[in-house]
Amino acid sequence: MDPVASYHDPERPAPGARPWVLVNMVASVDGATAVDGRSGPLGGDADRSLLGILRGLADVVLVGAGTVRAEGYGPPRTPPTPVAERRTARNQAPRPRLAVMSGRLDLDPAAPLFTGGDPSDPPPLVYTTSAARAERLAALAGVAEVVVADGERVEPTWLLADLHARGAGTVVCEGGPGLNGQLARAGLVDEWCVTVSPRLVGGGAGLLAGPPVTSPLPLRLAHVLAEDGFLFCRWLAG
Ligand SMILES: NC(=O)c1ccc[n+]([C@@H]2O[C@H](COP(=O)([O-])OP(=O)(O)OC[C@H]3O[C@@H](n4cnc5c(N)ncnc54)[C@H](OP(=O)(O)O)[C@@H]3O)[C@@H](O)[C@H]2O)c1
Repeated sequence: MDPVASYHDPERPAPGARPWVLVNMVASVDGATAVDGRSGPLGGDADRSLLGILRGLADVVLVGAGTVRAEGYGPPRTPPTPVAERRTARNQAPRPRLAVMSGRLDLDPAAPLFTGGDPSDPPPLVYTTSAARAERLAALAGVAEVVVADGERVEPTWLLADLHARGAGTVVCEGGPGLNGQLARAGLVDEWCVTVSPRLVGGGAGLLAGPPVTSPLPLRLAHVLAEDGFLFCRWLAG
């Protein structure tokens, strides 16, 4: 099967006044999402290739600040040609915009995420709260578009409504488990893509952190692809 077609051909209708939300994660066979605090050892060439294919669907790649810090996030790159052509056909920007959710704003303004993007791209979005320290807000103001929510935390529903108002139709969330848990508990996940990595790891957090969802969310299996011992699973909500 052509993985680009498998992920890019399906329709993703707008689910109301918010973008379509696709969560993409890699987990070991036993459900671990990190080895020594990073997801890299779980991946492989096929998984990295799929990450680019899925990012290529996104108007916005959404990620929690914990993942940005743990993984040393950089800016989204131009996707490979077949994906780039599909983006052009869908009238999407050449590269998705990154959006980071952070309360403390413990983010380095000199990090590649903020300084290494294509000069023609808009800066990353950083969603934070009115409780954030003024000096941290000021430090990021020159390298990011900082969006401040009232209160102690950013409500995912509010964040997605803001992205929708900015024209985002598809959001690819790359975790981590803390952000995934909030999206799932709020019923905001439309598509759940998990790479099952042929490793046994133990310990560590699973794909969803925090309290359990009120009642288990039903998912429909859309496909499973296999390569190099990895399984690429795609489920749809409902
Ligand atoms: N296997 C995979 O595919 C995969 C993918 C992603 C991440 N990971 C792993 O997951 C780990 C990190 O995950 P995590 O769950 O600790 O972190 P996370 O979900 O990436 O980020 C949590 C952070 O996001 C911010 N945040 C979350 N909800 C917020 C809200 N409602 N309002 C304001 N800020 C909010 C806070 O940032 P502040 O602390 O700045 O306030 C919080 O500490 C790492 O080990 C990483 O390697 C694995």
